[in-house]
Amino acid sequence: MTGATLAPAAGAKPTTGMVPRRFVVTSTRRDTHDTHTLELASLDGEPLGFEPGQFTMLLAFGVGEVPISISGDPARPDVLVHTIRDVGSVSHALAAAPPGAVLGVRGPFGTGWEAERGRGGDVVIVAGGIGLAPLRPSILQIAAAREDFDRVVLLYGARSPEEILYADEQRAWAAQHGIDVEVTVDSAAHAWRGRVGLVTQLIGRASFDPARALALLCGPEVMMRHSARALADRGVAPERLRLSMERNMKCGIGLCGHCQLREHFCCVDGPVFGFDQMAPLMTVGEL
Ligand SMILES: Cc1cc2nc3c(=O)[nH]c(=O)nc-3n(C[C@H](O)[C@H](O)[C@H](O)COP(=O)(O)OP(=O)(O)OC[C@H]3O[C@@H](n4cnc5c(N)ncnc54)[C@H](O)[C@@H]3O)c2cc1C
Ligand code: FES
Repeated sequence: MTGATLAPAAGAKPTTGMVPRRFVVTSTRRDTHDTHTLELASLDGEPLGFEPGQFTMLLAFGVGEVPISISGDPARPDVLVHTIRDVGSVSHALAAAPPGAVLGVRGPFGTGWEAERGRGGDVVIVAGGIGLAPLRPSILQIAAAREDFDRVVLLYGARSPEEILYADEQRAWAAQHGIDVEVTVDSAAHAWRGRVGLVTQLIGRASFDPARALALLCGPEVMMRHSARALADRGVAPERLRLSMERNMKCGIGLCGHCQLREHFCCVDGPVFGFDQMAPLMTVGEL
């Protein structure tokens, strides 16, 4: 891959244990009615460094800690970016954190998308809702090395037009980087001129060569299960179908067992797995 690297930045400082580093919120942006993107800078001056697909354990002091994927540009490790959907007490405190607020950060943890495995072939990215956030670093990385890939397709589904994440950026990925972006929503008012339906319905008509394709999937598990099956039916090899299993996590470092899925600990063996590993487990609930 030219122009982009998967290695953590020189001098990058991961946290491997339970002690958080302190980061200050430098800017916030409201993406949708319940989703905010935060930019953070470390107070110790060391960049975090991460691989696309990895997550941190993000701590709102006095409220709690939750896993949140890194959604920033891997070429800019000095800026830690998180896109957070407000669904409960901790994510509410994080999404509402104003500039100047100090948050705790552990990580980065987990496995990455390994987009370089798509070099020389096509890449199909299937995302649902907030699931586009963990994929954004890989999309930026692919865009920066666009000539290393053939067709790049982003199939994105949101609940409504108002809930489409990174809408302006999606248009830029299409216009500036030749990424074939297809968007669908579950339901919409009359003013919406785009597609209505499930993201899985886009897979059948998407233009890519399954034999040379790498597929990256993130979204609700039911969406990933159906999408992975549809991609496999089109001929994408299961080990080249990679998906992020966002199970409940507490420690993030393989100690507590909260994220265990049979023999896999999603926090250290995942969150990004091959469909060859996950296909038999995707109907299994949390233990
Ligand atoms: C590896 C990983 C990466 C993640 N990345 C992001 C991200 O980039 N942005 C983001 O907004 N969220 C992300 N999440 C989900 C986020 O961690 C949860 O939304 C958060 O833990 C909810 O905590 P809470 O205290 O706010 O709400 P709670 O009161 O704990 O839960 C509120 C609701 O959210 C549901 N919920 C809790 N945990 C999860 C989960 N892991 N997945 C789906 N639903 C859940 C609960 O079932 C409940 O319905 C990620 C989760 C994992 C495991
Ligand atoms: S979150 Fe504790 S073992 Fe994975």
